[in-house]
Amino acid sequence: MVSKNVQDLMEKMTIQEKIGQLIQLSADFFQGDNVAITGPLKEAHLGEAALYSAGSVLGISGAQTVRKVQKNYLKHSRLGIPLLFMADVVHGYKTIFPIPLALGASFDPQVMKTASVTAAKESAAGGVHVTFAPMVDLVRDPRWGRVMESTGEDPYLNSVMAKAAVTGFQGTLPLDQNHIAACVKHFAAYGAPEAGREYNTVDISEWRFREQYLPAYAAAIEAQALLVMTSFNTLFGVPATVNQHLMRDILRDELQFHGVLISDWDAIGEIIHHGVAGDLQHAADLALKAGVDIDMMSFAYAKYLAKAASLDPQIEQLINESAQRILILKEQLGLFTDPYRGLSTERETEATLTTENLDAAQVAAEQSMVLLKNSHHTLPLNTATAISLVGPVADTGDILGSWSWQGDPDQTETIADALAKQFSNFTVMPGTQYHHVQFSKLNDAVNASRQQETIVAVLGLPASESGEATSMTDITLPAEQLTLLRGLAQLNKPLVTIVITGRPLDLTEVDALSDAVLLAWFPGSRGGAAIANVLSGRVDPSGRLPMTFPRNIGQVPIYYNAYNTGRPISGTPADDENKYLSKYIDAANSPLYPFGFGLSYGDFTITDWTLSQHNVTPDQPLTIQATIHNSADHAGTTVVQLYTHQQVGETVQPVKQLQAFKKVSLGADQTQTITLTVPYDQLSTIHSDLHRSTDQGDYTVMLGFDSTCTASQPFTVAHQ
Ligand code: GLC
Repeated sequence: MVSKNVQDLMEKMTIQEKIGQLIQLSADFFQGDNVAITGPLKEAHLGEAALYSAGSVLGISGAQTVRKVQKNYLKHSRLGIPLLFMADVVHGYKTIFPIPLALGASFDPQVMKTASVTAAKESAAGGVHVTFAPMVDLVRDPRWGRVMESTGEDPYLNSVMAKAAVTGFQGTLPLDQNHIAACVKHFAAYGAPEAGREYNTVDISEWRFREQYLPAYAAAIEAQALLVMTSFNTLFGVPATVNQHLMRDILRDELQFHGVLISDWDAIGEIIHHGVAGDLQHAADLALKAGVDIDMMSFAYAKYLAKAASLDPQIEQLINESAQRILILKEQLGLFTDPYRGLSTERETEATLTTENLDAAQVAAEQSMVLLKNSHHTLPLNTATAISLVGPVADTGDILGSWSWQGDPDQTETIADALAKQFSNFTVMPGTQYHHVQFSKLNDAVNASRQQETIVAVLGLPASESGEATSMTDITLPAEQLTLLRGLAQLNKPLVTIVITGRPLDLTEVDALSDAVLLAWFPGSRGGAAIANVLSGRVDPSGRLPMTFPRNIGQVPIYYNAYNTGRPISGTPADDENKYLSKYIDAANSPLYPFGFGLSYGDFTITDWTLSQHNVTPDQPLTIQATIHNSADHAGTTVVQLYTHQQVGETVQPVKQLQAFKKVSLGADQTQTITLTVPYDQLSTIHSDLHRSTDQGDYTVMLGFDSTCTASQPFTVAHQ
């Protein structure tokens, strides 16, 4: 339903003013004094009119700044249509939460929701109206730096987290002033670039796309995400940004998305490089026809739509449709009522970096850390233990991760400082930088460790080697860090390695050299305190892997929900007798650490589990009751995971697919019974005709603590 306000505006607006709404400019166009003469406007060959008719800006925030820019903009707006402020608020604004891949590792949608609620409150107080998040691209290749922005390799986990993020950012519609509009991205399948190389070709079948990659976008749209962003990549042979099948048939018609579709940065301009547009005018025409409402920084719309509209009524109609969607979005944000959305420096101060927000970031970090190895119960450490803290990440605030532009590493407590609050006897000596080493310093670190009982090495990569445009061919730790670790291992002392990373790494040697391995990701503003709490045992590590960790890069892509192939291995010694199987001659098929894996300080078993009935129908979901026991003498947390397998399908079926999970915390020797349900529709799969439906037949349900679980029971599915 279009409001009278929007209808009136549409009637009053000139075609140029409507086109203006379709243009998004970056912050530098609106800040600084000489934008119109020598600055970006001139470089873009745009007049000042383009500046004050542009519908939105990206990358500006701060209550005072936004007020100033909005006020000046409105002075130049004939009809008083407010400017829309968008920004990348991905895993926090001022209070930085762990990266989204870590939030996925929490296996707790409430953790994701809290992170998004907090980010929305802080950024809304900073004048942000729309966030370019959540990124829900499914990822299976750690060579791609943007895996840090995703919640991993699984369609179900990604869908659950996508819904939690959108609901957190937006709250319940209509948006109140503590919430912001979510822009789900990147539509679509940007996470599948060939060879993990950034911006590279994506070429997957529509069958696989619908089965694995589409669900999380659909979940975000079902959760009423108000915007979608197009992706840079091609899909089905056509660049996504001008792909009518993807944007009209699938996004608008099938998923019933009626919100605003924005291009990624200069993605319209890049259609020329893709070789699908001869020039920028052609690209503008293709993008508008695909339904792209806002052109982010290619200037194609600014330069060519007015003339195109004068020649073609269809173009004018499309411009009207896009302009109307953008005005509706501004109305949903309440901008016509209050273009400043209650902005004030007092509110901004009160809302940001509060103890409550920082505590929430700490809990998120504690919930997302993954204990990958813990031989001889090396962890937790007694706080009286004499520790030698070493490694390039031990004493730096560079633990916020990529897309944390409002965070401040210099104001972020280091892991060393956080440990000092709990451990009374430890030395700190980095021993090496990320990629450079002075052997005298390395030897000093090793020698200092001789005097201590336990060694804690904090290794990893800087935030600058994670995120956009950071693809890597080698996912082992830098040689300098491995040299340090080898030296430390020769001391034959308990060796704990903490890994700070935004992607799965090849930790094969780290695992072999260490007694304990704790994956801390980029843990955010309170990451140090969270790590200290896990090391001391105040908190039980309960994160589980949202992405498979390979033994080496040669196994990639490697993921748990793979297809059986015609020559599967059996996982028994018989495999060695048969050369002609789907395997390698130089490595195992299995990963170093599988999807869903993680250890706890507790000792959990599933003592009993039953199906409420063995026949699933549209009216009878699969329902499992399971009794979990913690036999340890202290509390712990685990994640119970439910997988299913369809024995026979019209197309190949994954050997197992995650369908439900539940985080369970139990005290020493405590037992709890939980219920997990899987609705009939959730068992649906994509058929060769590309339609999704649930097949009748025999299935298996598996229950356990990671994707290698084997305990199974049969069930059947019937259409009634
Ligand atoms: C970048 C990213 C996108 C981001 C946008 C605006 O190129 O691909 O995720 O939201 O530009 O910063």
